[in-house]
Amino acid sequence: MTASSTPAAASGTFAIGGDVPVHRLGYGAMQLTGPGVWGPPKDPDEARRVLRRAVELGVTFIDTADSYGPHVSEELIREALHPYPDDLVIATKAGLTRHGPGIWKPVGRPEYLRQQAEMSLRRLGLERIDLFQLHRIDARVPLAEQVGELRLLQEEGKIGHIGLSEVTVDELREAQETATIVSVQNLYNLAARDAEPLLDHATEQGIAFIPWFPLATGELAAPGGPLDELAREHGATPSQLALAWLLRRSPVVLPIPGTSSVAHLEDNVAAAAIELTDAEADRLTAAVG
Ligand SMILES: NC(=O)c1ccc[n+]([C@@H]2O[C@H](COP(=O)([O-])OP(=O)(O)OC[C@H]3O[C@@H](n4cnc5c(N)ncnc54)[C@H](OP(=O)(O)O)[C@@H]3O)[C@@H](O)[C@H]2O)c1
Repeated sequence: MTASSTPAAASGTFAIGGDVPVHRLGYGAMQLTGPGVWGPPKDPDEARRVLRRAVELGVTFIDTADSYGPHVSEELIREALHPYPDDLVIATKAGLTRHGPGIWKPVGRPEYLRQQAEMSLRRLGLERIDLFQLHRIDARVPLAEQVGELRLLQEEGKIGHIGLSEVTVDELREAQETATIVSVQNLYNLAARDAEPLLDHATEQGIAFIPWFPLATGELAAPGGPLDELAREHGATPSQLALAWLLRRSPVVLPIPGTSSVAHLEDNVAAAAIELTDAEADRLTAAVG
């Protein structure tokens, strides 16, 4: 395959945990569910097409979670892509329970995290999950117990690497006392940069930083949005500029834009080839935020 037939490759490669290489521009599979990330999507065939097209375009990193649907996103991934290409890395998460559309409640009890890892293995049809992320820290359970259970799963070979989601630098440091942490996933995009200290810390340590809401749930991609004019000047779409800015921000950044449409997916993946100059990146930084 040529680079032009797999455009995601143009984003470069990052080795998660030093030994799991992925193309940096990935795909987030949360939008493949019903409203409120609850139940099946309106068009399951299009959802499966999105997943297959992502792989065709060279995406080798797909982010999902047990709680997306719940179960729906993982099930669609298996239906669309199993048996998986050798280079495809599916990262999933556990630690958030669902009680209805838009409702998310952390549960980090070790036996629950273990159950969810086992169920994700079964749903995804995997013998090992390359990257397993603690979706949220449960404040009612000592962090060492939550991360400790993931470490046991790792020692048993059920998960390859351990990641965290929505954490501070201090929480990352605390988790690192129990296990090797290879990734963090926090809300971060051009318009929401609170996670900068964590991103800088991850960059120093060579830990993957996976920004969720890279398009501010579509706000940054919308026509008439803050990137519209700059995008026209650049001959790109607003969504592509938002993603190109993230890719340029640090070599450890692995953006996972979500979409339920093949057209938007193709638009987003093309961002991998956009190289912003310093001046262009600065203008974007100043235009939003
Ligand atoms: N760790 C966490 O706590 C956490 C929380 C939230 C999300 N995540 C992960 O992060 C991923 C990304 O977040 P996200 O999907 O919520 O938000 P996002 O990627 O910032 O934005 C997705 C939204 O943007 C729209 N969109 C995507 N591409 C577009 C384009 N080219 N033009 C116009 N609109 C476009 C999508 O609508 P269409 O479907 O119509 O394209 C969708 O509504 C998720 O899929 C999930 O894997 C993690």
